[in-house]
Amino acid sequence: MEHFSAIILAAGKGTRMKSSLPKVLHPLLNKPILQYVVEAALDAGIREQLVVVGHEANVVEQALTGQTWANCCRYVYQEQQLGTGHALLCALPKLSADCKDVLVLCGDTPLISADLLKAFIGQFAASGARAAVLTARLADPAGYGRIVLDEAGDFLAIVEEKEASEAEKTIREINSGIYCFKRALLKDAVSGLNNANAKGEYYLTDILSILRGQGQKVLAFRHDCAEQISGINDRVQLAQATLMMQNRVNTKWMLAGVTIIDPSATYIDTDVQIGRDTVIEPQTYLRGKTIIGNDCHIGVGSEISNSKLGNNVYTRHAIIVESEIGNGCDIGPFTYIRPGSKLHARVKAGHFVELKKAEIGSGSKVPHLSYIGDAVLGCKVNIGCGTITCNYDGQHKYTTTIGDEAFIGSNTNFIAPVSIGARAIIGAGSTITQDVPADALAIERAQQKNIPEWAIRNKNHETEE
Ligand code: UD1
Ligand code: CA
Repeated sequence: MEHFSAIILAAGKGTRMKSSLPKVLHPLLNKPILQYVVEAALDAGIREQLVVVGHEANVVEQALTGQTWANCCRYVYQEQQLGTGHALLCALPKLSADCKDVLVLCGDTPLISADLLKAFIGQFAASGARAAVLTARLADPAGYGRIVLDEAGDFLAIVEEKEASEAEKTIREINSGIYCFKRALLKDAVSGLNNANAKGEYYLTDILSILRGQGQKVLAFRHDCAEQISGINDRVQLAQATLMMQNRVNTKWMLAGVTIIDPSATYIDTDVQIGRDTVIEPQTYLRGKTIIGNDCHIGVGSEISNSKLGNNVYTRHAIIVESEIGNGCDIGPFTYIRPGSKLHARVKAGHFVELKKAEIGSGSKVPHLSYIGDAVLGCKVNIGCGTITCNYDGQHKYTTTIGDEAFIGSNTNFIAPVSIGARAIIGAGSTITQDVPADALAIERAQQKNIPEWAIRNKNHETEE
């Protein structure tokens, strides 16, 4: 692919989305539509990518920066969106000198695979054609440009739906919006475009009939995978594409040895990794660059984002964000693990427990109703029900440190910064403001007073109903 460059058209507003967000940035399984297209071209081996931006250009550009491959993308500004042909025209002068062939893609077809692009490029090269369009036959071709062939079955023209005659509308072979061109011919052909059509736009599609009219060989490469070329113009198509991508991702993981109880109710982002014999129950969302180990049980209602889970982890009704969960941990139900937490092996974080920037040593337990934030806990610590770290004084955050095997009685408050030694015991209900040495008992409670028969004497205090 050395001499191949990609031009990706992404300058349009996407009027039919009825959105303030540019169409190509709408997320599909949490990744912008456009990013799928860029990544498919990269995976097909194309290193130079020109992305044509216009509407909200900065926002679109910003959305792709920070990716590892970001330096493969350059941006071309199309000031006014005068049509797909005009977008291509803007990009041509920016191609590098050694580019000989151009792959044109639309930024709104995220289901395209690298394999199909490779096959298309391979066929283009093998056929000796000067231009090629990737096509498919659809049961319902509405909305797409139709491929018109001559009597010999060779490419003649692409007719947009708005210009199509009744007869042309019955053609089921459609234009995917993906093309290959010999670079040398493009400049001349593009300058032959006009906008005398239904939309008053410069149609890229006309370039192919111009080339054909010049006697150049133009190939219509029909592929039977209609799904891959689905374009997104409105939110109904966005939902349909999401469903197809979800199906693709879930099928991949099931074939790789992951049990998914109900694939229609399981949402796994494309960059997630999952180990063998892991079971995933419904209503789970695995997002971003999450990595799940082997033999995990991702129970109902788990939402896991950009986190790493070891092997044999059990979660249900849990939200885990940007955290690390060690082998054999038991999380949930109703547990919120916030960014920066690290749970070593076999930690239990039970119901109504919130952890934030908490490192918890192996075998420790935070079973019920706790907030543990900005804390470092050793191994085999037991945190009693209702214990909280008071980590914030309104201005600064402070750390609570608890040593190995410490036993924390229920309803303890730790006023951070505070440090508890190994094996120390804290009496239930204590508000701990001072460090506790190892092996000590700390108890902070007012002396209990029992006043005999107080209730009888104060009977008239009771409210009468
Ligand atoms: C286009 C094709 C149609 C094809 C369909 C496939 C044309 C005239 N029609 O129609 O034959 O079946 O794609 O999905 O090409 N864009 C720009 N600058 C512009 C206009 C558009 O960058 O001035 C970008 C858009 O952001 C979008 C892409 O080009 O990513 C396609 O534009 P869109 O308006 O969606 O074209 P379709 O009507 O779908
Ligand atoms: Ca489109």
